[in-house]
Amino acid sequence: MSKKDIIKKTVQYIKERMSGESSGHDWWHIYRVYKTAEYIGKKEKADLFVIRLAALLHDVADWKFTGGNDSIGPNLAKKWLKKLKVNNDAIDRVCEIIKEVSFKGVSTKSIPRTEEGMVVQDADRLDAIGAIGIARTFATGAKFNKVIYDPAISPRRYKSAEEYVISTTKKNGTVINHFYEKLLLLKDLMNTKTAKRIAVRRHKFMKEYLVRFLKEWKGWA
Ligand code: NI
Repeated sequence: MSKKDIIKKTVQYIKERMSGESSGHDWWHIYRVYKTAEYIGKKEKADLFVIRLAALLHDVADWKFTGGNDSIGPNLAKKWLKKLKVNNDAIDRVCEIIKEVSFKGVSTKSIPRTEEGMVVQDADRLDAIGAIGIARTFATGAKFNKVIYDPAISPRRYKSAEEYVISTTKKNGTVINHFYEKLLLLKDLMNTKTAKRIAVRRHKFMKEYLVRFLKEWKGWA
């Protein structure tokens, strides 16, 4: 099977698997990460075949929804790619990236070992900020029954991945705090030059949004 057909088949597979998911991890999240990773990958001159496959499969089983078991995603991806007879070297590289890209809180530094991993991680993180990031944050917050905002609850920093997941999936914390706990920190965690440039614009927009949100909350705007 040609590389082009492998990508096409994988697009179909993921589209069927993930459409209609409402927490912001649906097919369109994958589509945006795929497109952004492709864009960054071209600019950074990285291996586009590995990037495309890893981007398409990176949330095949999201860490936050699998009880912390981070081998479910890579295993599913491996099974799928073996079925398509992708060569073992590419499969290993794709699976390693899937393991690396999941966000586990800011204190848990997870820097991918390869350029391709860095590109996919950047694309995934870019989709968590800016206008799209704002929409996804409220959607995820609703899924976990979080309140939009409560001035009495202040943002916090998480010491471990476990603590981060508990806070993300339980009904404590607020959606607005999530901006301070995660989203506003992502700009400085970008790996590639291209992603850093894009992140600056998206970061600026989120900050403007928050200023306005907090003003309206107090009835000033
Ligand atoms: Ni993702």
